[in-house]
Formats: sequence, C-alpha cells, structure tokens
Amino acid sequence: MTPLDDIPDSSRPALILEWYDRNRRDMPWRAAPGMRPNSYHVWLSEIMLQQTTVATVGPYFNRFIARWPDMAALATADLDDILHAWQGLGYYARAQNLHRCAQRVAQERGGVLPECETALRTLPGIGRYTAAAIAAIAFGRRATVVDGNVERVMARLFAVTAPLPGAKNELYRLAQSLTPARRPGDYAQAVMDLGATICTPRNPNCLLCPWSQHCAGRDRAAELPRRAPRKARPLRRGAAFWLTREDGAVLLRRRPEKGLLGGMMEIPSTPWREEPVLSHAQACAQAPLSAVNWRALPGVVRHDFTHFQLELTILAGTLKGDFDPDLHWCPIDGLPDLALPTLMKKVVRHAVAHL
Ligand code: ADE
Repeated sequence: MTPLDDIPDSSRPALILEWYDRNRRDMPWRAAPGMRPNSYHVWLSEIMLQQTTVATVGPYFNRFIARWPDMAALATADLDDILHAWQGLGYYARAQNLHRCAQRVAQERGGVLPECETALRTLPGIGRYTAAAIAAIAFGRRATVVDGNVERVMARLFAVTAPLPGAKNELYRLAQSLTPARRPGDYAQAVMDLGATICTPRNPNCLLCPWSQHCAGRDRAAELPRRAPRKARPLRRGAAFWLTREDGAVLLRRRPEKGLLGGMMEIPSTPWREEPVLSHAQACAQAPLSAVNWRALPGVVRHDFTHFQLELTILAGTLKGDFDPDLHWCPIDGLPDLALPTLMKKVVRHAVAHL
C-alpha cells in the first residue's frame, strides 16, 4: 500500500488552498482574496505569461491597463501602438492575436469574454492552457489548468515515471482528477505557485510543501518528471556582435517575423551554420556596422534548440562617432526588463561577465 492509498483525493485541494491563502504571490492581475477577478486583467496577463515570467510581465501588464483599461479600449487601439508597447515581450504574432481577440470580443460579444473553455478556444491566441486558465481564474469554472509547473507537480505527487512529452496526457488526467469544483481558480494558481516556489525543477523544498505527506514521489522528487532522451542534434556555430555606444547602450535588432524566435529582439549575429568555424575576419565582415575594432571574448555561449545545438562566440566592440538612428539601442540597465529569448539572455550574461 502506498502512503497515498489512505488519503482521500478530496483532501488534497483543501490542503493546497490553505497553503495558498497564506503564501500566495502578489501579482498585479490577481484579485484580492475573496474578490471577483477582472476577466480582462486575467486574459491579458495569461496571454503575456504564455511566453515569459511573472516578474517580467508585471511592468508590461501595468502599462497596458493604464493605457487600455478595458477590452473596448484595446479593440480600438492602433495595432502599431500595441506592437510598440509589446516590444521586449516576445513574439509579435501574440500581440497581433491579442488585438484581434479584443476586436472580436468587442464586436461580437459586447466586450465581454465568454466563460466556458470551448467558446474561449475559438478566439485568437487562446489555446487549451489559456482557455482553462481564464475559465477557472476569471469565471470560477471547474477547468483543468496545466502548464509546465503543473506537469512537474503532478509527476511528483503521483510518482509518474513515464517520460515527457509522452506522459502529457496522463499528467493532464491526473490534474483533472484533482481539480475541485470549489475555488478552481485559486486552486489552479495555487498549484502553479507551488511549482514556481517550492516544487521547483531543481532542489525542491519538500519540507515546506503542503502536499509532502501525500506525495508518492517525495523521495525522488529531483528525478521527476523524466524526459525522453533527445535525438542527437547537429551543432551550429556563429558569432554575436556585442556593440556598445559611448554612452554604454547596446545594439539590438528585431528578428524576422517568420521562423525561429520570430519577431523577438536579439543581439545581432552572423547566420548560424553547421560549416566549420568562421575566421575572425570573416565573422567581422558580417557585422551590422563596420569600422569597429571587434575583439573576441573568451569562451562561447551554448544553447539547445529543439532541432540543433548552438555555439556562439561573442565579438565585442565600441561604436565611436555617428550611428544609424534606425538601429535599436538599449541601455545596459534596461536589458533585464526586456523579454529576450533565453539564448540572448545567456549572450548578455556572458558579455557582461567578460567586459
Ligand atoms: N502562470 C501563468 N499564470 C499564472 C497565474 N495566474 N498564477 C501563477 N502562475 C501563473
């Protein structure tokens, strides 16, 4: 008999809700305890959170609601203004879908989001996760909200040893079996908060976990969830150009809309190729601005993409004199506020550490 056999399923939601009432994280879109959430705030925050962390989203969310306080205001906004305010938050397609969704809801539904998952999923930019999150958090519907945090918590709680991604359906069913009819929105946010603060990928803090007595994976939490070994991926290489102006601002560039990391900001680089390493002169010749004395920083930045691995050398240089006003410069202190892709955050850390 496992320790779980004597625990009624129904007691687990109560335990985590008690924990949430004492430990919930403060987030600008969360309603105060017992208050009705604003569905526009919930929708907006969930779309923003699809691609980045709670800490990064905070200031963007506050700026959006100050400027476009409701669905009608966002629906009539200029798309260019929205795209501009979204800058640094990642994929442009998401901001375009945000605008399309606001227009559909304003035109077809009087500015009010539908409450059920099925209707929510017909709207632009709303998939299975977001529909469930809005239904549960904004409207108190019993919907099963599963993101990466929830998958990890379920894999540990039920000691699921089947590897991800194959185990996704099983983890969804287990999450569904626990989702309570009472306070489903708080419950969903509680499990996500637990995953973000206690049941973390590395060094989970089981001593503080409200579910630890009922957790079948407690003794091997750090090994779960398992992941299927990835196929061998080719190695691509390139050079990134860390170019600073005399005032210390760093050169950024927007990636093309289509393709990998589409529409996101990046530290400019040469194309990433499987061919042998470029010589220093060949790499410098591909820099976005010439007449800079590039020097290679020690070491490389490595990153794993789904279909290839990447190694970037960093070439650092300082721009003197005039500069092209069309290029995008960002003060070094402003870089942490941008939702740069993970690869680009590694490039920033590497350059800052070596300069
Ligand atoms: N991640 C995405 N949405 C969230 C929420 N409402 N609470 C905690 N983590 C989240």
